[in-house]
Amino acid sequence: MTVGIPIRRLWPEPSTEPLDDTTLTSLYGRVDRPRLRVNFVSSLDGAVTVDGYSAGLSGEPDKRVFGLLRMVCDALVVAAGTLRHEGYRAVRLDERRRAWRRDHGLTAYPTLVVVSGSLDLDPAQAAFADAPVRPIVLTRADADPPPGLTDVADLLRCGTGRVDLAAGLAELHRRGLTQLLCEGGPHLFGALTAADLVDELCLTVSPLLAGPGPGRITAGDAGSPRHLPLRHVLAADDGVLMLRHARP
Ligand SMILES: NC(=O)c1ccc[n+]([C@@H]2O[C@H](COP(=O)([O-])OP(=O)(O)OC[C@H]3O[C@@H](n4cnc5c(N)ncnc54)[C@H](OP(=O)(O)O)[C@@H]3O)[C@@H](O)[C@H]2O)c1
Repeated sequence: MTVGIPIRRLWPEPSTEPLDDTTLTSLYGRVDRPRLRVNFVSSLDGAVTVDGYSAGLSGEPDKRVFGLLRMVCDALVVAAGTLRHEGYRAVRLDERRRAWRRDHGLTAYPTLVVVSGSLDLDPAQAAFADAPVRPIVLTRADADPPPGLTDVADLLRCGTGRVDLAAGLAELHRRGLTQLLCEGGPHLFGALTAADLVDELCLTVSPLLAGPGPGRITAGDAGSPRHLPLRHVLAADDGVLMLRHARP
């Protein structure tokens, strides 16, 4: 990838030289145990969207890390709300990233996992219809799929009345999908936090005051605060901060 806006490490060891993709990838590497990593971008004053979408918060450095996180994961977990609203397309990686995956013994593309209680999903959406790997829809036992959905995705049913996220993640691990990247959205993140399933948060902080109105990166019922230690701080030359927090 052509490196545009330089990214440097501020903490723990400051780097004066911009980080190349190899170093950046090692800072977000895979681990030898199951892990749920969550990735979000927010404004300085905590907004999850600008004009209803995350795009207004993201720039080239955030997209670069976003792509690297997709490259190193086994499965990309996304809530149905974000999939529908952001119009998710099929998960594609360029040849260089596919080669990295092949070199690391991985499939060419990660598996898309969509979390939905209602199964109000459109099988014609590109995320399903064009998917290079058959997506999985994590849902509850008593949800009825719309016509055509099971032609383009496998249903993983965990829980009755509500989706049992812990059981769903355990089944993904059993299928060999241990490095999970969750791209939100806020309600899914809130539920994963409440269930104590979040191992890591990668948060890009955009130097922008969005003002009142938009929600936060988390939503849903309140729960107990959970400590998540800081692992690194990166800064891009456009003023964006990239924080990685993870369980010990
Ligand atoms: N800044 C960022 O990095 C970022 C990242 C992602 C999203 N966003 C923004 O967030 C907004 C979307 O948020 P949202 O409020 O719709 O939240 P969401 O978490 O994206 O989606 C909520 C929907 O996802 C499914 N879902 C989530 N948690 C579930 C659970 N525990 N069990 C079963 N189903 C679950 C349900 O789908 P069903 O209705 O199908 O049951 C639910 O209605 C958009 O504006 C998007 O742009 C921002």
